[in-house]
Amino acid sequence: MPADIIDGNAIARQVRAELVPRIEALRQRGIQPGLAVVLVGEHPASVTYVRGKMKDSAELGIANETFRLPADASQQEIIETVERINADPAWSGFLVQTPLPAHVDTEKVLATVDPTKDVDGLHPWSQGRLLRGLPTFVPATPSGVQQLLIRSGHSPEGKHVVICGRSGLVGKPLALLLVQKAAGANATVTICHTGTSDLASMTRQADILVAAMGSARSITADMVREGAVVIDVGTNSIPDATKKSGQRLVGDVDFDAVCAKAAAITPVPGGVGPMTRAMLLVNTVLAAEGGPK
Ligand SMILES: NC(=O)c1ccc[n+]([C@@H]2O[C@H](COP(=O)([O-])OP(=O)(O)OC[C@H]3O[C@@H](n4cnc5c(N)ncnc54)[C@H](OP(=O)(O)O)[C@@H]3O)[C@@H](O)[C@H]2O)c1
Repeated sequence: MPADIIDGNAIARQVRAELVPRIEALRQRGIQPGLAVVLVGEHPASVTYVRGKMKDSAELGIANETFRLPADASQQEIIETVERINADPAWSGFLVQTPLPAHVDTEKVLATVDPTKDVDGLHPWSQGRLLRGLPTFVPATPSGVQQLLIRSGHSPEGKHVVICGRSGLVGKPLALLLVQKAAGANATVTICHTGTSDLASMTRQADILVAAMGSARSITADMVREGAVVIDVGTNSIPDATKKSGQRLVGDVDFDAVCAKAAAITPVPGGVGPMTRAMLLVNTVLAAEGGPK
């Protein structure tokens, strides 16, 4: 039987709808949530992502602004912008869009973000609290993956989750989130990466397999256990002469082949992407409510 498709657009709509009464309750207290983004340069994917974040916020009545700096802005100029936003009560949350230009020390910039406004969850304080299982802003993609699993009826509790990818943005925070002794987590987690000697022998052990590698269609059907749940975080552009743009988006999973074997799977696009966008809004509203508790 072909896999159930986990519809990220539908679940993201549900998550956004749940924010409406919370935003209304804030408004009644005279608080408007505000999301700012610092965008340095004109990296095409970043420009698209930031535009999406602004549009999503506007649709929910969240104030929003993009602080643009040129690609050759100095590290000091970027940090001064961050400090201005830190001090401005109009912004309950903000993020610095990465990647930053090569001349900038990204870690230094991220460390200047006020942790109480760190809706991207990338400040060392947020990540340390995540490690310790304390309330904190969780990066949007990992929390989106967790919500997709829970809300599609595939709770990770008691399951073996194998994550391919160990980035600070996706793989590592997702592992930390799912390994916590908490409802909607409590999984046994394995993290794989390019140093894993036999990737397929690891992925075949997964009840839930998460692909977050940035490697087009590299999880093939032989790497997936019959009946596994497969979450595809990857977004890769591949050439496609039938498209006007000459390319199309695919995930890290060989979708058609894996569909025949998995119990459930997320599509690309329409899976993790919309949830990442929705969870940033959740963090922004949470920040306006006073932060994670
Ligand atoms: N849909 C969304 O909302 C969303 C959000 C964020 C990211 N993404 C996408 O998710 C993908 C991963 O993003 P990222 O930021 O985590 O990427 P990243 O920083 O490049 O990290 C990729 C990770 O995958 C591992 N890896 C790469 N190729 C591998 C292979 N063949 N076998 C095993 N491990 C492999 C790397 O291992 P090493 O550490 O050993 O190098 C690294 O840990 C990208 O396609 C990105 O566009 C999507």
